[in-house]
Amino acid sequence: MPDPTRITVPSFRQRKGNGPPLVVLTAYDAVSTSVAEAGGVDAILVGDSLGNVLLGFDSTMPVQMEEMLHHARAVGRTRERALLIVDMPWMSYHLGPRETVVNAARLVREAGADAVKLEGGAKRVEVIRALIDAEIPVMGHLGLTPQSVLAMGGYRVQGREAGAADELLRDAEALAEAGVFAMVLEGIPGELAARITAAVDVPTIGIGAGNATDGQVLVYHDLLGMLNGKSPKFVRHYAEIRGQQVDAIKRWANDVRDKSFPGGSETYD
Ligand code: KIV
Repeated sequence: MPDPTRITVPSFRQRKGNGPPLVVLTAYDAVSTSVAEAGGVDAILVGDSLGNVLLGFDSTMPVQMEEMLHHARAVGRTRERALLIVDMPWMSYHLGPRETVVNAARLVREAGADAVKLEGGAKRVEVIRALIDAEIPVMGHLGLTPQSVLAMGGYRVQGREAGAADELLRDAEALAEAGVFAMVLEGIPGELAARITAAVDVPTIGIGAGNATDGQVLVYHDLLGMLNGKSPKFVRHYAEIRGQQVDAIKRWANDVRDKSFPGGSETYD
């Protein structure tokens, strides 16, 4: 029986201007889903960031539908209360409305997604309308859209010049008009995120977009300090799990090598 306090697309959308900011975290498997749920997030995003974080790609562009489905199914099986949003990978929504709807329907049917997320502005309106027509709720994603890394020439903050900022505002309005229930604003100046948030009637969820948005999203492994190397400016580590993991493995390896593991209490009679 579904949890009666489960977050739905309408209840998520209604949080625009009502209550505390929305909390969205990525998760990619059963363990991260259970930890995110225990932490009380409002929504879980199976992001195509899994390509960088889990699969060792240097961008999200190589991620395929089958990889998204593989991870989304694990999250869908274990999710209890949080809204489940799944990213549509690059080229799963670029070849027209029909193929977009077929791909999104797999994420709903096979993984239990409540909604899908896709990147881009006004040029995505046609496919967004087709998805909504097929009863599949859509979250938009504007600004530094990682699937556009080749076109952008790298991961750069977007919308810094007046013309680009105005275009992003128009894109946000086009997405809201097309019927998205929320949109991610990534890697844009805080002031522009505030303008967009004031202009659209659906929640804006920021990442690297300041604190004027209606909610925030972070990548699970960034928040928990699980990755090697430097984090982007907008990330705050709330734990340093990688260091703890390395330390635990070193202590176990030492215990194995000096034969103090396993001990008597860890051995069957
Ligand atoms: O793929 C992802 O994790 C995302 C978030 C960073 C918004 O799209």
